[in-house]
Amino acid sequence: MKIALIGAGNVGRVLGKGLSHIDHEIIYGLRNPDDSKYDELKDYAELKSVADAAKGAEIIILATPWSQTKNAIDAMAENYRGKILIDCTNPLKDDLSGLTHGFDASGGEEVAKWAKGARVVKAFNTTGTSNMANPEFNSRKSMMLIASNDKEARLFVKSLSDDLGFDSYEFGNLSLARYMEPFAYVWISLAFQHGLGTEFTFTINNKKELISK
Ligand SMILES: NC(=O)c1ccc[n+]([C@@H]2O[C@H](COP(=O)([O-])OP(=O)(O)OC[C@H]3O[C@@H](n4cnc5c(N)ncnc54)[C@H](OP(=O)(O)O)[C@@H]3O)[C@@H](O)[C@H]2O)c1
Repeated sequence: MKIALIGAGNVGRVLGKGLSHIDHEIIYGLRNPDDSKYDELKDYAELKSVADAAKGAEIIILATPWSQTKNAIDAMAENYRGKILIDCTNPLKDDLSGLTHGFDASGGEEVAKWAKGARVVKAFNTTGTSNMANPEFNSRKSMMLIASNDKEARLFVKSLSDDLGFDSYEFGNLSLARYMEPFAYVWISLAFQHGLGTEFTFTINNKKELISK
């Protein structure tokens, strides 16, 4: 499928490369596609403006800093309408001291308000990019939670996540992003404030008792 990644930072690069390896066509949506810092991406992707990338894609992945996420959505010029829009962002405060939303709101729900008509799915926000590059850790697969009000979109992203190598779960409706985003903050806090570094992941044990897949 044609997948647009809006943002080519840590997350955009690792997911774009991973998805290209499983035969998806990658288009990066960039504020400045001619910037030479993006040249290396041309090996496996097309580089376009944000609006053109969204227009040419069947699926869109948002991988922008929270403070720029609304701008990036506006720059898509509604080319997300009717399409699955995967929100990987976390509404982090600028100083990383916490989240700007929760527990009665979430970044994911805000994205759905901003991108009216998109089939918003919250996913790929609860672990670091080292695990996105290689979801298998000590012979266990990293778990990935997937939330959306659109069941078909949720199932599609679950299979995409499985294909990338995650142990993926349909978590439920988009309002569950209210818990996924703080959960992401637990990962961030362990990695950077508690000195664990980025080489660890969350896995689910006894999963049949916890969640039906
Ligand atoms: N890093 C992680 O391990 C991780 C894990 C899970 C979730 N997340 C979340 O994923 C999001 C991205 O994180 P990241 O680490 O990849 O950030 P990053 O490395 O700072 O990359 C952000 C990218 O977004 C682009 N960008 C910024 N403003 C934009 C706009 N208005 N329109 C289009 N593109 C724009 C930047 O490109 P230019 O500045 O060159 O235009 C850059 O390529 C964040 O919300 C983060 O919380 C991160």
